[in-house]
Amino acid sequence: MKKIAVFASGAGSNAAQIIDHFTSPPTPLHSVEKGEQNPLIEVALIVCNKPDAGVVKIAARENIPCLLIEKEKFFRVDAYIKELKEKEIDFIVLAGFLWKIPVTLIKAFPGRIINIHPALLPKYGGKGMYGQYVHQAVLDNKETESGITIHYVDEVYDHGHIIFQATCPVLTNDTAASLAKRVAALEHAHFPRVIEQLISGIKPL
Ligand code: GAR
Repeated sequence: MKKIAVFASGAGSNAAQIIDHFTSPPTPLHSVEKGEQNPLIEVALIVCNKPDAGVVKIAARENIPCLLIEKEKFFRVDAYIKELKEKEIDFIVLAGFLWKIPVTLIKAFPGRIINIHPALLPKYGGKGMYGQYVHQAVLDNKETESGITIHYVDEVYDHGHIIFQATCPVLTNDTAASLAKRVAALEHAHFPRVIEQLISGIKPL
């Protein structure tokens, strides 16, 4: 059994998709290759820095332990490594988690932390580039295409090795909100499957 911790600070729509993917019962016809649920992977922990975030309610509803973290301990003490190891976490998934990941945590989980970003990196990434800011920048630059990027986390914001990208069109009448909706649909369609493939070894870690 491999255990995932999902770090999130927002509404938690990606966290909800990931939880759903790994809790729905598999049928004999389903296979990991097809991106179906794998009973050997569990979302064991939600980690959140905002007590009132939507993802906290999702964790409660789904009966998944939720660790609320504080800035001081995360950045200046031990990055909660002890708590993550106690829960036997193998893999960390950032799903709308906006704090930078401390080097100590990256070193404690080498090649085992991934992030999703709502644009086609290396464009439109970096500090302050999240949510509507990303989509507005894409519109302001008159891009005809946007999408999602799933990548390993390193010491630089939105920078690590890219694992997967998917694209969608940017329409002439798009607003940041309408583009966000199209990009979120891509995230929900691909993120759980890519996580599963990585952990199952179908995609190399
Ligand atoms: C997602 O779109 C994710 O790509 C983005 O935050 C959103 C969280 O939504 N992450 C970043 O912008 C990271 N730079 P959710 O809480 O509904 O899953």
